[in-house]
Amino acid sequence: MSALANIVPHLKAFHVGFIALWMAGLLALFAMLSRQCDAVDAESDFRRIREATHYGYTWVVTPAAGLAVGTGLALIFAREVFTIWMFGKLILVAGLVSLHGWIGHTIVAVAETGRGPKRPILLLLNLTLPMLIAGVLFLVLAKPNLAGWPMPGWLAQPVGGTLPFDVPNP
Ligand code: HEM
Repeated sequence: MSALANIVPHLKAFHVGFIALWMAGLLALFAMLSRQCDAVDAESDFRRIREATHYGYTWVVTPAAGLAVGTGLALIFAREVFTIWMFGKLILVAGLVSLHGWIGHTIVAVAETGRGPKRPILLLLNLTLPMLIAGVLFLVLAKPNLAGWPMPGWLAQPVGGTLPFDVPNP
């Protein structure tokens, strides 16, 4: 058992709390950006939403994302979950991180161009978010046995490759 086992409940509580803040923040940012599409002519609304998205993203949602990922990484070693469902979860989390990055890029683009984001893209990505969340929750809560999933051989066993640089030999 890992030496970190005693702090697992605390780590999990922080992990789930930061995840809740991060996911709620992404949903709120999508909602605010979508309001910005309509606010193009209303100068003060546009500016208010622009400031709220900017500060919300930099001071709340991004720190929550970093802490959620940090506590998640600590949990991997504390719980020793080197399992296939965990790697599946990490692939879906990469999708969530990409959405996070796209929102940040869009907030900057809105500030620079003075135009709201394109509604169809916003809608599409907004729908992707709950699907990714549902996928992650399914994997982490059901912990399905994915051992029977077809995998390329090089992913399923060591291939005996060497690193492209010298490793010190203690
Ligand atoms: C890089 C990002 C993440 C990492 C490394 C990570 C890692 C982990 C690990 C190792 C656990 C403990 C699993 C266990 O005890 O069996 C866990 C629990 C959990 N994670 Fe994450 N996670 C990440 C992101 C997320 C995201 C984005 C969500 C939700 C959208 C999420 C939701 C949960 C939930 C609900 C639990 C509690 C599950 C339970 O206690 O059975 N995690 N996470």
